[in-house]
Amino acid sequence: MNSSDIKGVQKHVATIIDGAAVAARLHSDLKRAVENLAERGLTPGLAVVLVGNDPASSVYVRNKVRRSVEAGFRSFHHELPSTTGEKDLLCLIDRLNAADDVDGILVQLPLPAHIDAQKVTAAIDPKKDVDGFHPINVGKLSLGDSASVPCTPLGCMLLIREARSRLAGLNAVIVGRSNIVGKPLAQLLLRENCTVTIAHSKTEDLPSVCRRADILVAAVGQLELVRGEWIKPGATVIDVGINRVERDGRRKLVGDVDFASASAIAGALTPVPGGVGPMTIACLLRNTIEAACRRHGVASPIES
Ligand code: GUN
Repeated sequence: MNSSDIKGVQKHVATIIDGAAVAARLHSDLKRAVENLAERGLTPGLAVVLVGNDPASSVYVRNKVRRSVEAGFRSFHHELPSTTGEKDLLCLIDRLNAADDVDGILVQLPLPAHIDAQKVTAAIDPKKDVDGFHPINVGKLSLGDSASVPCTPLGCMLLIREARSRLAGLNAVIVGRSNIVGKPLAQLLLRENCTVTIAHSKTEDLPSVCRRADILVAAVGQLELVRGEWIKPGATVIDVGINRVERDGRRKLVGDVDFASASAIAGALTPVPGGVGPMTIACLLRNTIEAACRRHGVASPIES
């Protein structure tokens, strides 16, 4: 927490949680882990599958492939046209499941409407499911068993730990109940003994619910929904939103939190861009290394 002195008036300014810096640290640790595994004859392999040409998904997939190559992985990149049938996609997944040099499989979501995403997710070998979306891994997370944990919630947890060393007993409020972020993050916070609330579009008096949070996570995809007056003074605020807007004739990324008003109240806050976003790919690479080690019965060089 900081304060800035403007014309003699002390004004509170939240500490910025620098996701880009934390992710850069993680990438260099992961690169070292891959070098260590290579000395033992193991090179992790990651297959990334994109169906269609959604511009945002194309950017995410390109970055995932680039980062995996930089980390020293074997990278397998499959780009399929938007007209690809569900059967053809399931055939590709079968081949990737059977391929010995593939340790992790990621099918970028959302998929075109004619493909059943749940069926596709369930077709991935749970041992290669580095997204943590397979029903078996979802179940393991809720049971507290070890399994791949979805990348964005894992990134959120690592950033929360940057701001808070003790989480037990804190009130955590997550705005958004998606399978990709809200629900798995609730499990991770529960595992840390937080008192967890998941708020959503039907929640009554959302501002009051948010004001109870010591840890507030916004993951709804609504531009600057959470404002300073919704935040408990000193709270840790994690902004998962990535909303593309045009302001002053320029295209910008803006979060689900109104950064200006939130930074005057929160204790610590993630920016957009440069907060949760960079963590997601780092966590994907981490999950892939862990999956490779589990598949090959090798001790993981990554510290938990
Ligand atoms: N689309 C948005 N986030 C994700 C993610 O974490 N994994 C996959 N596979 N698709 C996504």
